[in-house]
Amino acid sequence: MAGIHAANYVKSGMKVGLGTGSTVKYTILELGRRIIEEGLEIKCVPTSIATEKLSIENNIALYELSSLNGLDLVIDGADEFDKDLALIKGGGGALVREKIIAQASELMIVVADDSKRVEKLGKFPLPVEVIQFSWKETRRKISEITGLPESKIIKRVVNDDSFISDNGNYILDLHLEIIEDPKKLENELNSLAGVLDCGFFCNIANKVILAGSKGIEIIER
Ligand code: A5P
Repeated sequence: MAGIHAANYVKSGMKVGLGTGSTVKYTILELGRRIIEEGLEIKCVPTSIATEKLSIENNIALYELSSLNGLDLVIDGADEFDKDLALIKGGGGALVREKIIAQASELMIVVADDSKRVEKLGKFPLPVEVIQFSWKETRRKISEITGLPESKIIKRVVNDDSFISDNGNYILDLHLEIIEDPKKLENELNSLAGVLDCGFFCNIANKVILAGSKGIEIIER
């Protein structure tokens, strides 16, 4: 419901960032439908290889971000959001491209269900993308900064192999439970040489389209 509703914000002529995940998938399918049935004309940039593939399957015209001189909006999912619309993202491992595209967009619309709304961020493990070189040293530094034992900084694994991001890096998932100051922690983590970025999106999202048992709710910052 949220994914389909978000597609209403997209009009012909717009430049649109397409997020990653199981909710925004429905935005992409709806945009594909409108392209075929209504002649919607848009230029899009995908936030992951998975979204690129899905977009091509749905006849969506894709462009390099740098060729478009900014985007009108990006529609993307989230793993958690708080009352300030700060987000944790990266459950699907696409956080870096998602943030680059969100920062290039005038407006960020988040599509989510009620389970993603939290009082304080942190129950969902915070994804941190780290380069493979000496990643254990980066984990040690993250442990120093956060006070988390290394046993709670877990390298993401898929089918018994290390998960590799679209950018060729590892993801460390930080089991913090409660995060008091996301912006401060983001700055600290991102100051480490082995960290490419972390899954906090602070002061970026403008609107959340939330689907719950009572229907659609729009939350704005
Ligand atoms: C991808 O890296 C994530 O940031 C997703 O946006 C997030 O995991 C939300 O996905 P779902 O809509 O599948 O929950």
